[in-house]
Amino acid sequence: MDKFVVRGGNPLLGTIKVSGAKNSALPCMAAAILTEDEVILENIPQVRDIETERRLLAAMGAEVDLGYGRAQHRTSIRCATLSDPVAKYEIVKTMRASSLVLGPLIARTGIARVAMPGGCAIGGRPIDLHIKGLEAMGATITQDHGYLEARTPNNGNSQLKGAHIVFDKITVTGTEDLLMAATLADGETIFENCAREPEVSDLAALLTAMGAKIKGAGTSTIQVHGVAKLHGARHRINPDRIEAGTFLLAGAITGGDLDVDCCNPAHLGALIAKLESCGIRLDVGTDHIRVRSGGSLKSTNISTEEYPGFPTDMQAQFMALATQSEGTTTITENIFENRFMHVQELNRMGANITVEGRTATVRGPSKLESAAVMCSDLRASASLVLAALVADGETILDRVYHLDRGYEHFEEKLRNVGAQIRRMGDVFTKK
Ligand code: EPZ
Repeated sequence: MDKFVVRGGNPLLGTIKVSGAKNSALPCMAAAILTEDEVILENIPQVRDIETERRLLAAMGAEVDLGYGRAQHRTSIRCATLSDPVAKYEIVKTMRASSLVLGPLIARTGIARVAMPGGCAIGGRPIDLHIKGLEAMGATITQDHGYLEARTPNNGNSQLKGAHIVFDKITVTGTEDLLMAATLADGETIFENCAREPEVSDLAALLTAMGAKIKGAGTSTIQVHGVAKLHGARHRINPDRIEAGTFLLAGAITGGDLDVDCCNPAHLGALIAKLESCGIRLDVGTDHIRVRSGGSLKSTNISTEEYPGFPTDMQAQFMALATQSEGTTTITENIFENRFMHVQELNRMGANITVEGRTATVRGPSKLESAAVMCSDLRASASLVLAALVADGETILDRVYHLDRGYEHFEEKLRNVGAQIRRMGDVFTKK
């Protein structure tokens, strides 16, 4: 299993480029299921989850470029025929992609079999709201042997029908999955209490380019007027706001001077406000943000909320920064029930963090020391890298495959701005 070796102490200096958003690319790739035509997606990040979804689509019978265009971060997908509309467990288990193919698959083929996505390190990750929404649109969904079988009315021979759906909880992929299903439903669908994440709007932009009739994406109420068919399109994926946020924190925690380029600051409002309240200096441009230390770091309080609130996907990374802040920072995780696994690893590096229910209390500043630590999930891995960038000595991070799921060329990008980081086995380039 790959490891990272990180020697702390270098401020990050220079420009670091943000890749396309994994959490936009995944639903947009699934949207290609809705048409027989070719869908071309640009600015696709080269990360493990994207490869997994390519394999999932190809296994269903889609023609997916597996090598073509990767250098240009482009993916071409054509689902002319879906010979095997099944999302197989051995692929789904590595990434809960079935929560994004269920809706488009049943809308396109009338019958879909998808492996139940398991839970993951951060929580149970149920998809009951996806199922409830599809049933409201007339689908019949049964479960057997770990698979969901979904059929449209008339035993898969009729379309889904428009419905009025109010989400019990705000769900990002639930909104995306059902939005895709509704584009081909018969009649009008109104969704209320939708997720407002930029990734939902990015997907809606692609669907609209494919001929879908959608109003209100990015707000909590979305209206869809179903159409008979969708056609192909070309679409450029949004920059990854979580990768951008992670790099802002890397510049802040190392006391560097870093220009985070090719990002969309409009998607980072909550994080920008928090960083400025901690005394971090930010120069916000139209597509880049320069981050510099503003002297000692003030403590603050974080409560994760759905967008546009403080993102849960930035919680672990912010906790690493909080270990360097003067005073006490409280961090409340409201979205997932088990997203504090980075805490014990940070404490092993010398942090002072206690957890009570959904709230972690971080007392700082702590002098972090190198240690052998274990990555547990995607964003916890990023948190441990940030801590290692300021820890004294060489930190060894194990199981960095978690990080490879959602960060493209992470160690190269950081090394190019002065971090001493290598994947085990690289030649160590001293700066
Ligand atoms: C998306 O996951 C993201 N993944 C996650 O990013 C992100 O953390 C999450 O949204 C919240 O922003 C992708 O977009 C691929 P949810 P998703 O449905 O859609 C509960 C990362 O690090 N819920 O918005 O699966 C659920 O348990 C990943 O890139 C139900 O109860 O999250 C959670 O408590 C991690 N029933 C809450 O809703 C459902 O049917 C929000 O989950 C669906 C969700």
